[in-house]
Amino acid sequence: MDESPRNDFVRVDQDFELSLRPTRFADYVGQDKVRERLELFVAAAKGRGDVLDHVLLSGPPGLGKTTLAHILGEQMEVNVKTTSGPVIDKAGDLAGLLTGLEKGDILFIDEIHRIPRAVEEYLYSAMEDFVIDILIDQGPNARSVRLNLPRFTLVGATTRMGLLTAPFRSRFGMSNRLDYYSHEDLKKIITRSARILNVDVDEPGALEIAARSRGTPRIANNLLRWVRDYAQVKADNRINKEIADRALTMLDIDQYGLDEMDKRLLETILLKFSGGPVGLGSLAVSVGEEAGTIEEVYEPYLIQEGYMKRTPQGRVVTPLCYERFGVKPPANMQRELL
Ligand SMILES: Nc1ncnc2c1ncn2[C@@H]1O[C@H](COP(=O)(O)OP(=O)(O)OP(=O)(O)O)[C@@H](O)[C@H]1O
Ligand SMILES: [Mg+2]
Repeated sequence: MDESPRNDFVRVDQDFELSLRPTRFADYVGQDKVRERLELFVAAAKGRGDVLDHVLLSGPPGLGKTTLAHILGEQMEVNVKTTSGPVIDKAGDLAGLLTGLEKGDILFIDEIHRIPRAVEEYLYSAMEDFVIDILIDQGPNARSVRLNLPRFTLVGATTRMGLLTAPFRSRFGMSNRLDYYSHEDLKKIITRSARILNVDVDEPGALEIAARSRGTPRIANNLLRWVRDYAQVKADNRINKEIADRALTMLDIDQYGLDEMDKRLLETILLKFSGGPVGLGSLAVSVGEEAGTIEEVYEPYLIQEGYMKRTPQGRVVTPLCYERFGVKPPANMQRELL
């Protein structure tokens, strides 16, 4: 989705990601509200000997949705079958998946917003009544066959909550939105990963990597791996603040950890649109990215960090953004600052 060099780098190695993925709630750092709610949900279902109700997980990439789905499976002691929205292009595919489940199993559908509408409707009865009516044959021989399904749990993950229809969303017993992680939480994740990878990193070093990870555990782990390589070649395998800084600067990751698209978005508002306000549509055309992706994947971080704001007139950048880009703010904004 994002073509920035860091994201290419970040996508590199799935085995690596797997080895660092927590498998229990106890190792899942941060997202306290979501974690506590899910722990309770699991405890209640297990206490009743019941199947877990359907769960929807949303939030930007790399924040731990897939990880949570697997933790749910682990804690419920059930199998997790994984698939993804765009792969299920016919109702028959869905029927195949569902009939292969055992009672209590989790079907994890990643990118659930990309399920075709026609298939989505079949999923409604599967989720609600645990049946699916499939049309077989065509023309005069066409008939509908009802398949009974085992009671199962659907765990859906999406980066684009806004693309799910209301009837679909309402069929999940619980919906959770993941937020960006604080530097403190990312530091804990980096420290845990360093222990697993047997890497020597001191606390200021871990915090330096954390601060440049865009609030995202996946990025934090990948940057840790890069800094480890750097330290191995240039600094006796020890990571401190200075080594982390040198290694990350070599990757062109600035002090604030913004990625290419973050910078492009801010620069566009700042320079092309004189600081805004600019409508989402015009912004999308200018940076060559889909409006919905800007809104749900990039902006939340930039807003949280205080670089930009959404106003009724459109997007505007803040004094902080002027400062970071070394651009003099307009006179009225300077007055605001006083
Ligand atoms: N809360 C957490 N504590 C520790 N590590 C985490 C946590 N969340 C995520 N991670 C780490 O980040 C990696 C990426 O997380 P995950 O694959 O679950 O993200 P995702 O939300 O599914 O992303 P995408 O939308 O791209 O599929 C995991 O392999 C894991 O190592
Ligand atoms: Mg995922």
